[in-house]
Amino acid sequence: MRVHDVVIVGAGLAGLRAAVAAAEAGVDVAVVSKVYPVRSHSGAAQGGINAALASIPENADDTWEKHAYDTVKGSDFLADQDAVEILCREAPLRIVELERWGVPFSRTPEGRIDQRPFGGAGFPRTCYAADRTGMYIMHALYQRCLRARGEGRPITFYDEHFVTACVVDDGRCRGVIALDLRSGAPVAIAGRAVLFATGGLGRTFGRTTNALISTGLGVILPYRAGALLKDMEFIQFHPTTLIGSNILMTEGARGEGGYLVNGKGERFMGRYAPKAMELAPRDIVSRSIMTEISEGRGVGGQPYVHLDIRHLGRRRIMERLPGIREICLDFLGIEPIAEPIPIQPGQHYAMGGVDTDTWGQTAVPGLLAAGECACVSVHGANRLGGNSLLECVVFGARVGERAAALAPEMSF
Ligand code: FUM
Repeated sequence: MRVHDVVIVGAGLAGLRAAVAAAEAGVDVAVVSKVYPVRSHSGAAQGGINAALASIPENADDTWEKHAYDTVKGSDFLADQDAVEILCREAPLRIVELERWGVPFSRTPEGRIDQRPFGGAGFPRTCYAADRTGMYIMHALYQRCLRARGEGRPITFYDEHFVTACVVDDGRCRGVIALDLRSGAPVAIAGRAVLFATGGLGRTFGRTTNALISTGLGVILPYRAGALLKDMEFIQFHPTTLIGSNILMTEGARGEGGYLVNGKGERFMGRYAPKAMELAPRDIVSRSIMTEISEGRGVGGQPYVHLDIRHLGRRRIMERLPGIREICLDFLGIEPIAEPIPIQPGQHYAMGGVDTDTWGQTAVPGLLAAGECACVSVHGANRLGGNSLLECVVFGARVGERAAALAPEMSF
């Protein structure tokens, strides 16, 4: 049996940020992941991370309170406002921290962190690193873990270990059982505190932006161990996913000025959201696209419409949207600088998950959760784009700290 103070299941943004926090608190940390950590699905997050930085002229009067209001409104007023306050108040601090840890955020000509508009605010509030924001943050956090290890703080990575069960004894979670995927051998990993940060469940849907690894096991295993689930009915569909593979075509494309166009060549969002147009909330844009398709205005009668970014020009596309261009070329042989991109809505995010308090604690002592598999309820019925990466770093840090604080109180 392997024994650690804090066992973290999942090595995406929430898991890695929790690992950094727990290691810095001086406890012995294990990170268990069914993939190599930097292959986690957080790496597919493209468009950005929200924070009221008020650092450029277009958002000079932005505040965390406005960010919180937009988040609560976007949630259809179903988010828990105490949790939203933590999310939005801590956001600028976490962005500056990530920048210092090496995340290459895109810059203004003056050298400030640039921000792009996403749905929700109506002005730029989303920090970004081209259209590979999640990947850059994930690499910076992994490097931070390696640095902690180099400084003598114990973080053990169990790469390619597939967790199959939580171990609950006497009402408390005391570890997990995993399969070492290389040998098939079962491995018992005991933890004084166990933290699930496994991400989403998109692969339970036919069309999803989520990677093959996002199966929802990190919701099911805590549930089987006695944790409660919350808001499971709230599923988000992203309006723009590439036909065929349903890979994300970032909201940043519309934030940069991209249009949605139907089979008749009409910029149809004027019919549904004349003011916000393509940057209306995701649920509205997704439903609008599906209405166009089901009323026969898909392109060539097919179940898709076009995302058109050609007018942004080669330079802007290469600088701000290089990742989606590459995906279009690799997966469909389409060059978005010259051709419109065929897209359709697909499942993108689960607002619900393992019910936690604002410290990530579940109904089972010793069992915590953070990130998409958790539901601290900052998104209510609908998440704003750019708030998911933020949730991972804000609550990853907070829940990692709490797990570290709980560990010494828990005996085996
Ligand atoms: O469209 C996107 O880049 C997705 C962002 C998000 O879901 O937060």
